[in-house]
Amino acid sequence: MSPSHATAPGERIRTVIVDDHDDIGRLVARRIADTIRAKAAAGGRAVLGLATGSTPIGVYRELIRLHREEGLSFANVISFNLDEYYPMDPESLHSYHRFMWENLFSRLDIAPANVHIPRGDLPRDQVEAQCRAYEEAIRQAGGIDLQLLGVGRTGHIGFNEPGSGLESRTRLITLDLVTRKDAAADFFGEENVPREAITMGVATILEAREIVILATGEHKAAIVRRAVEGDVDYEVAATFLQLHPSTTFYIDRAAAAGLTREATPWLLGAVEWTPELTVRAVVWLSHRAEKAILKLTQRDYAEHRLSSLVARHGSPGALNGLVFNALGSKIRGRSKLPRDQRVICFSPHPDDDVISMGGILRKLVENDNEITVAYMTSGSLAVFDHDVRRHLDFMRRLAGERHIAEEAVDELARRVDPKRLTTYSLHPGVVASEIWRRVPWPLRNLANEARANYRTFTNGAAAAVDTGTLSRQSAEALRTSAGLLRTLDSPEESAVLGDTPEAVTKLSAQIPDGATLEQLLPLRDKIASADHAIRSIDETFERRDAAAHRAHPGFGQCRPRARAVECRGSAHRTRAHDHRVDLDAHRRGVRR
Ligand code: F6R
Repeated sequence: MSPSHATAPGERIRTVIVDDHDDIGRLVARRIADTIRAKAAAGGRAVLGLATGSTPIGVYRELIRLHREEGLSFANVISFNLDEYYPMDPESLHSYHRFMWENLFSRLDIAPANVHIPRGDLPRDQVEAQCRAYEEAIRQAGGIDLQLLGVGRTGHIGFNEPGSGLESRTRLITLDLVTRKDAAADFFGEENVPREAITMGVATILEAREIVILATGEHKAAIVRRAVEGDVDYEVAATFLQLHPSTTFYIDRAAAAGLTREATPWLLGAVEWTPELTVRAVVWLSHRAEKAILKLTQRDYAEHRLSSLVARHGSPGALNGLVFNALGSKIRGRSKLPRDQRVICFSPHPDDDVISMGGILRKLVENDNEITVAYMTSGSLAVFDHDVRRHLDFMRRLAGERHIAEEAVDELARRVDPKRLTTYSLHPGVVASEIWRRVPWPLRNLANEARANYRTFTNGAAAAVDTGTLSRQSAEALRTSAGLLRTLDSPEESAVLGDTPEAVTKLSAQIPDGATLEQLLPLRDKIASADHAIRSIDETFERRDAAAHRAHPGFGQCRPRARAVECRGSAHRTRAHDHRVDLDAHRRGVRR
């Protein structure tokens, strides 16, 4: 566990970047534990401000471990949560009450009376009084010692959306459209996401004695850069943290990707020019100068503080050629891909495989590999009623244009009675797998058809498995993934995974035969994250293509589609929120 950097030039919030995002949980939980112990040693009570969302889960898991294994007691802890949706029943699957009890409080020795979470179930005319009482309760407790925060893509901390003032206090707020879109997957559709929330204000947060803010995943890179390097602005509440004397931002490499020290370190001073950094700098320059790599001149390099790089290579021509060839060699030809082996492609969603690596899939088939595409959402989550309706409608239109036989569509429509679809609707919060079991096979089959693109790319040679690891599923889902991983434990076999095959081998070794849910649960994040697909296809291709396309309109358009698909980076498409595994749904699955 080694935080790699202290704050760099231009950063206005102390920022710690960690290589492994599990380290964030360990570092931050340790900091919280120190606060609790210091307060207890002085005979006092630690007051913690807590957040929900996917980012702090690792911290909470580590706090539970510290409680169980190292005797960290929460008996003297008072907690205040940042926010709650409004309206929201505390028992709802989506309530932050339920989230906190299921992910943290129920596994600690904290006194329920010491837990404070804004209530989303009060009548509107009582909300204001509740907000005032919340502020008063924080004051009565002696103020917050350590406030834990996540950050939304709008830059919200708590639910302080754009426009929230520096003086703002606990209040009812209207959620931003971006925030509601981000929550849509959890609520099974944007229309189900509440429009309002109760949140601590910016002033309430800034009064905490210490603030720890977390961000992980590439989807947070832009907002991390804005918060850490941008000017203080009412439009981005996280920038107010620059005004707080004791704030630390803990981020993983993906979330750090937009920071100058990561993205363009040569702008900050001398750098050690590794081959990887050289490629990155030249691709960046081609972007900035809006020129194809092979057309970059001495002047372009000089104007962008890259003269020293040219000097190392003798001339712009030599450097351009080197980078151009290095990029070209990244398109893996068949000879560089596995042959006659077993290959598993973990695809978070049923389209990530073909969008991110359709070309590679096809080449793997041509190399006579045995391919399994493992989808990590269940079919039921992947296909909503409106998708099924759209699919039918599309088929009807195709039949109208005589592309397919009308009888085939009639047959399908007979099997899928749209009136009955509502019976199988995915109502918000209902565990989908439960409904899916009641769905008649023709509909299930249609769902499978709707996401069978992988067949097109593999000429039907690949098999697909629904693991359901990422969705609200049962022990079965984890076992399926675990079983797949176990088939890879022979070193001759290869895994098409973001994790190195070595890491996967280690993971499969941890999975006992006939593993029970209890044995699998601690591994679930690892199983779920073994899906990043091939990293060797670099996202820089996309940029290079964009630059080349600007320089030579038409470039790329005449290439075979598979190759164009192959040029898109897969990591680029992997969304962190897709990786959540819903623990309480697992538990419900067990109880059933
Ligand atoms: C949650 C909260 C929010 C989240 C933010 C990031 O209590 O206050 O500000 O921290 O929306 O959410 P995740 O961690 O899910 O990306």
